[in-house]
Amino acid sequence: MSRAFPAGFDWGTATAAHQIEGGNWNNDWWAWEHDAASPCPEASGDACDSWNRWPDDVALVRELALGSYRFSIEWSRIEPEPGEWSGASIGHYRRLGEALLEAGIRPVVTLNHFTLPRWFTAAGGWTGADAIPLFARYCERAARELAPVLGRVCTLNEPNIVAVMGHLLGMWPPGRSDLGETQRVVDVLVRAHRAAVDAVRSGAPGVPVGITISMTDYQPVDGGEEMADQTRALMEDPFLAATDGDDFVGVQTYSRMLVGPKGPVGNAPDAIVLPMGYEYCPEALAATIRRAWTFTGGTVPIHVTENGIGTDDDALRVSYVETALAGVLDCIDDGIDVRGYTYWSLMDNFEWAFGYEPKFGLARVDCETFARELKPSARRYAGIVAANAL
Ligand code: GCO
Repeated sequence: MSRAFPAGFDWGTATAAHQIEGGNWNNDWWAWEHDAASPCPEASGDACDSWNRWPDDVALVRELALGSYRFSIEWSRIEPEPGEWSGASIGHYRRLGEALLEAGIRPVVTLNHFTLPRWFTAAGGWTGADAIPLFARYCERAARELAPVLGRVCTLNEPNIVAVMGHLLGMWPPGRSDLGETQRVVDVLVRAHRAAVDAVRSGAPGVPVGITISMTDYQPVDGGEEMADQTRALMEDPFLAATDGDDFVGVQTYSRMLVGPKGPVGNAPDAIVLPMGYEYCPEALAATIRRAWTFTGGTVPIHVTENGIGTDDDALRVSYVETALAGVLDCIDDGIDVRGYTYWSLMDNFEWAFGYEPKFGLARVDCETFARELKPSARRYAGIVAANAL
């Protein structure tokens, strides 16, 4: 018995500039990848060469007959120095958007997906005195220049991850470990999102805009309820609270985390553990959709802007997606306004401090020829999309 998704449900897939374009040298991540103190096993290098081969990417999305393609634009290409604007880079992203529209695909544009221009980080990054107005200026310029090709706009990708990985755990740039600084950066990112929403609504009136938040199904064990609440309060709540008045909130979920009174207790002994160290847990998506909906009081529509699995086992990818989508249907059946699902990612790509090892893609990429090849899981996903049913 198949279960249908609502008419008009928006099916998509996603990438991010630094993870696929190649040669993104003018940002903090390129510097971090070449910093001996960073945990990066390898540099992003040429990535998937999508700066040149983006027509191949559009062709893949078109072959899968997806409704939307979420990609990010690279701030350091568009504004390589403060106040200097690259018409060539804006033109590149405009052509990408136009090609998607011509193919009947909705461009979903992320204005900032982790990477920051070197000049911005040199001025303090998100701790800099002018971080918010500088980011808002970029957002307004990008929105105004790209307005004709914007189907939907994500302001900041996973700002909670930016704050915690970069300023608390020190694993990502700028490699800091300071709780007070982390909390200040969270506050700056919340205000940066609000400023970006205003900038997009000024530069591209009428284009739906929202934030994307990394969410995890934090499951308390052995009296870990208070610690789980504290974890959510740092990781998720400030950004869920920042969505008031937005057109959508992007939920991005991969797994669960078991939390005891003193913090994470590790994976369940019988769990399938994925290459990135967390559990195979597709059910986490429904749990986090429910939390986001409850938190906003059902006032902000939800898009699943990332969900996927980093694995070499493509059959496991199929199982993960089918189970995650069954959970989405359960949420919809319970009256939650879920507008769409975006599988992360279109193709295997640079997975930040994990390098190229985790394989999230619906397509594999030959690291020498950059040829793209769809995996069997891509055909299964395309079948679900075509039927609009599971
Ligand atoms: C993130 C980013 C993506 C990742 C994806 C898989 O959530 O870290 O949005 O860039 O590649 O989530 O980990």
